[in-house]
Amino acid sequence: MHLLLINIQQLCQVETAEANRQRVNGTDMKTLPSINNAWLYIENGRIHSYGSMDEEPMIDCNDIIDLHGKLVLPTWCDSHTHLVFAAPREQEFVDRINGLSYEEIARRGGGILNSAKRLNDIDESLLYDQSLKRLHEVIAQGTAAIEIKSGYGLNLEGELKMLRVIRKLKEQNPHILIKSSFLAAHAYPVDYKQDHDGYLNLIINTMLPKVAEDGLADYMDVFCEEGFFSVADTERLLEAGLKHGLKPKIHANQLHYSGGVQVGVKYNAISVDHLECVGDEEIQVLKNSNTIPTLLPGAAFFLGMHYQPARKMIDAGLPVCLASDYNPGSCPSGNMPLLTTIACTQLKMTPEEAINAITLNGAAAMELQNEVGSIAVGKKANLIITKPMPSLAYVPYDYGNNPIEKMIINGVVL
Ligand code: NIG
Ligand code: FE
Repeated sequence: MHLLLINIQQLCQVETAEANRQRVNGTDMKTLPSINNAWLYIENGRIHSYGSMDEEPMIDCNDIIDLHGKLVLPTWCDSHTHLVFAAPREQEFVDRINGLSYEEIARRGGGILNSAKRLNDIDESLLYDQSLKRLHEVIAQGTAAIEIKSGYGLNLEGELKMLRVIRKLKEQNPHILIKSSFLAAHAYPVDYKQDHDGYLNLIINTMLPKVAEDGLADYMDVFCEEGFFSVADTERLLEAGLKHGLKPKIHANQLHYSGGVQVGVKYNAISVDHLECVGDEEIQVLKNSNTIPTLLPGAAFFLGMHYQPARKMIDAGLPVCLASDYNPGSCPSGNMPLLTTIACTQLKMTPEEAINAITLNGAAAMELQNEVGSIAVGKKANLIITKPMPSLAYVPYDYGNNPIEKMIINGVVL
């Protein structure tokens, strides 16, 4: 199995032979290393070699695609989604237009609890079919590595149902890299409204051991937020998760300066995600850590909230990541090209910064940076071929439209 791509207008996000970067930090995010007028050769599903057409490839290959006028990028890495859910919540969208806030809707038993009710009512095979359809949609928009969370079950059976659906998505779509996070600590369920300790005990003593025993999750997630799980709750949960081998990857600082960033860093979280409420202290804490700050501006956009201070974070030297947060409440879209538009227009990220954030930094936020996220010899040949376009900036510029003409996954043209 081999394939040679020639006359690529711009081959984006390439590694040089010396530097196999693990993530892109701060001012380096301004640069997206590229080769103009390039070729790339794929063998056995992996990137074999690439270079400039000025030194034409000395490769004997019958399978050649001419990509004149088109760009080639690594496929997107979406490191934070909730795409397994039972039903949309468009009525809450209307309620917000009419003046209710996201928090008010949650306090009235809507929001996550609304999704939990629907999740517990739905048949597992129907949940799978719906989720598969969403997965196919985001693949068509360029995503080929994705993290998916539980968190709408809020009881043993419901959480296991979600995690089994994620596992089946993984098994039935082996060409897509899927990571799974256990998020029973997404909201206190109705039955435990007055008994928070009881729910924490249920997660720690009953759910976690079962999830770990069945190998159903890679990460432990907690919605650390005022009105949801406190810092003390989060500590207990993360410690328990670590005992079962689940590294933290948490929701932090969406609605308040909740201490979520600090607790995430304290437990060496792979990433802390959302970060609408981030100031100098949080930035300093992140600077002294390996934890990746993941921004979810699609949620801020859809909820009409203020945006994450991406400029300040990048200028401070952080490896900022962007992810969709695809979920039925705060962001019913997993469209990564559209996310780059929001990042550019609202967070004032440059197109290069946005693409760095959804490729190599997204891969790092799922610990997949040695497999995908950039064009490097030996990495998976997971590539986006764009429609003809004048330059990279056209991807976020041409908003709402799909920039993709074709994708190559594991060296195979889809
Ligand atoms: O990341 N904020 C917490 N969880 C999700 C939304 C969940 C929901 O509203 O269904 C988020 O935005
Ligand atoms: Fe989320």
